[in-house]
Amino acid sequence: MALTPTRNKLKASTLSLIFLFLTVPLLLTLSFPPKPEVKFRGSIAENPQWYNVLAQEVQRRKIKVGLVNTDILELGEHGKVLQHGLADVVTIDFDRVDETLRWEDFFPEWIDEDRKWGQPSCPQIPMPRFENYRDIGVVVARVPCGGGGEGEGKGVRDVYRLQVNLLVANMLVRSRWTNDQGVVDRTVYSVFIGSCGPMWEIFRCDDLLWHEGDYWVYKPDLRRLSQKVMMPVGSCKLAPTKGELAGQKIWRSNTLSIQNATPSQKPREAYVTILHSTESYVCGAIALAQSIIQANSTRDLVLLADSSISAQSLRGLRSAGWKVKSIKRIRSPHATRHAYNEWNYSKLRLWELTEYDKIIFIDSDLIVVKNMDDFFIYPQLSASGNDQVLFNSGVMLIEPSKCTFSTLTQKRHEIASYNGGDQGFLNEMFTWWHRWPSRVNYLKIFEGEDNVDRDIPNDLYAIHYLGLKPWMCYRDYDCNWDMLDQRVYASDAAHQRWWKVYRDMPRRLQKYCGLSEGMDARIRKWRRKAKKANFPDVHWKIKVRDLRKWRHQS
Ligand SMILES: *[C@@H]1O[C@H](CO)[C@@H](O)[C@H](O)[C@H]1NC(C)=O
Ligand SMILES: *[C@@H]1O[C@H](CO)[C@@H](O)[C@H](O)[C@H]1NC(C)=O
Repeated sequence: MALTPTRNKLKASTLSLIFLFLTVPLLLTLSFPPKPEVKFRGSIAENPQWYNVLAQEVQRRKIKVGLVNTDILELGEHGKVLQHGLADVVTIDFDRVDETLRWEDFFPEWIDEDRKWGQPSCPQIPMPRFENYRDIGVVVARVPCGGGGEGEGKGVRDVYRLQVNLLVANMLVRSRWTNDQGVVDRTVYSVFIGSCGPMWEIFRCDDLLWHEGDYWVYKPDLRRLSQKVMMPVGSCKLAPTKGELAGQKIWRSNTLSIQNATPSQKPREAYVTILHSTESYVCGAIALAQSIIQANSTRDLVLLADSSISAQSLRGLRSAGWKVKSIKRIRSPHATRHAYNEWNYSKLRLWELTEYDKIIFIDSDLIVVKNMDDFFIYPQLSASGNDQVLFNSGVMLIEPSKCTFSTLTQKRHEIASYNGGDQGFLNEMFTWWHRWPSRVNYLKIFEGEDNVDRDIPNDLYAIHYLGLKPWMCYRDYDCNWDMLDQRVYASDAAHQRWWKVYRDMPRRLQKYCGLSEGMDARIRKWRRKAKKANFPDVHWKIKVRDLRKWRHQS
């Protein structure tokens, strides 16, 4: 049918108007999830399942819901259900973190630990005015998960993702003591929307109530969550000292309720080390236990050992103070066969020690020189820095948990490790960690220093013997001096400190630190080479008095 031009025009604009009316709601529902994964089933027909889980939990009481990084409009049908169902809904206002900031700004390689140039500081992560949002019982947050466009690849090291997670955590923790009468131990919840879910370093998998597709419902353990929000936003600052923590309101309310919950119980905390695949660190583990005991620690000592550790060695280890638990070692999926780090993923077994709330793991090539019991106040994962944005996995505080263990063992196949070892893997799994002073895990390494003694600071907590281990040298000097590619690790002062632990331990334990003929032959070989090369430190000239040289392992 032919139309006159005017009518044609009119018709066109009417059509587009109708089109507009039709598409606006359509666009709203299309461009903003509900995502297709959500199944509308369950006891309350028509409602999203996450809502039903929540409704059942709060017993249909009227609660206050805070929306983070989303709003009623964006939530679409889900928002309406919330609003008309159980909740007063408020959108939480906050400024987005500066987009030019990168993960490295929050996890710098080096910080001024000794405050020579003042207190190190972290970049700002803006938070809402919490006092404007009192009594929030549920926080619903959309988490940015990277993926697509410029966000791609940011994944686990995304600053905006960190902001949203920290904001939710702070909101929930603060809802606990907004009441003027003191601590209200109210149960709170959080719902996360996004394929990646929340950061598991902050929201523990143990607290996950329900998950389907992009929807995650958590019922956080507020005591543990409080410990986390008291930490700095990154490793840009040291974790606060016990004294600094005690000054925080959250800490005070927290310890109060801990005392009420567990009166005068022995803390479920332990120092743990692990031996697998070889017996060459048995002596190291014995010295470690003795060093912890010599530092008057009050915590349990637990050693995980695989089947390569002989019955005789186990007797020695028990006698040194370790409670021994046998484990099956775990292969590193990224290591080459028979490589030195082939079985390093055995460390994941630490998370199976659920009879403890917290453990401080210490590698067997360290000794403790000062009581470290106070470090159990920190949450998972606390450690000293290594390089770049990474921590060193030789000493770390972890919180055992069944679901953490199973997540780690599942993910080990898909997540790469930069060095094929546990350290690389754990750093991908726990990108948000808390920095302990480097004197908690003092790496014995001296780059570009000529001083032959290579003194060690006297305020150390633990010394990490990189390079050849003290018990693999003569007692007289650090044999790292005799090898060109190991000399960065050489320090007679550190060496002597290890032998002090040896000297103070019972005879029956010392015999586990004998020299085998193979070890002896190796030391002598490198001594000869050092002499031939005429190394100027002249350690090769030292007259050897070490009795172990003559009394081989019994
Ligand atoms: C451990 O306790 C003993 C006895 O109370 C004390 O003599 C010693 O100095 C303490 N050691 C350390 C390292 O604090
Ligand atoms: C792996 O384990 C070996 C032996 O226990 C240790 O010497 C090495 O430092 C570990 N390597 C990594 C990358 O974790």
